Amino acid sequence: MAEQNNITKIPTHVAIIMDGNGRWAKMRGKERPEGHIAGVESVRKVIKAAVAEGVRYLTLYTFSTENWGRPQEEVDAIMELFCRSVIAETPELIKEGVQIRIMGDRVAFSEKVNAYIDRIEGDTAAGEVLTVVLAMNYSSRYELTATMKALAGKIADGALKAEDITAEVISENLYSKDYPDPDLIIRSGGEYRLSNFLLWQAAYSELYFTPTLWPDFDKESFHEALEAYAGRQRRFGLVK
Ligand code: IPE
Ligand code: IPE
Ligand code: MG
Repeated sequence: MAEQNNITKIPTHVAIIMDGNGRWAKMRGKERPEGHIAGVESVRKVIKAAVAEGVRYLTLYTFSTENWGRPQEEVDAIMELFCRSVIAETPELIKEGVQIRIMGDRVAFSEKVNAYIDRIEGDTAAGEVLTVVLAMNYSSRYELTATMKALAGKIADGALKAEDITAEVISENLYSKDYPDPDLIIRSGGEYRLSNFLLWQAAYSELYFTPTLWPDFDKESFHEALEAYAGRQRRFGLVK
């Protein structure tokens, strides 16, 4: 196991694009859902690591709006895996002080999945150590479209004036309104793109890409990403 030195600059909010499950499975001659099952292990490890490192918010890109277009078998396997994981993981999450929140449009989920969402959000609501946000049926353009509709509705109702729309007002009307913008966005699996994830919120996030496939991503991988972040100089458009 790699030596874990203490890092002085810990990001408050880390967001992760958990990519590479399918390739991981294929490399082993397995079906894609096997990769998602292995990916849940990584989620468990990374939640523990985030608690240990002192991160306060962890957003995990779990299922994109576009992912509905995958073969039905794979979609069903992912939904079933979510439900099973809720049952298996809840006791440990409560013990660790982890609160789970779902971010995305819930209308598309089955009654069963919605029941499990209610269950895990309810059972972990008291967690104060780490908030884990699962982005499910989430995409940034979908979120921004919903936000624009909501703001247009408020203007039509006379509750808001167009000239009063500011960046803050937009942020306060996104699905992510309860969380600060991510300081660090990690993508596993070797691709260099955001795939419709947190486009507004990522304005000044530090980006970290690793070729490691998500099922191989562990606490050392997480620590390495945090070390890279600690070495970055964030300027927010200013001069140092
Ligand atoms: C990410 O892994 C998990 C989800 C999108 C649900 P992928 O399933 O995209 O894995 P690759 O990219 O095909 O290897
Ligand atoms: C992004 O991965 C979505 C999640 C990790 C849930 P994808 O595999 O869906 O993204 P692309 O297709 O490589 O852009
Ligand atoms: Mg992928």
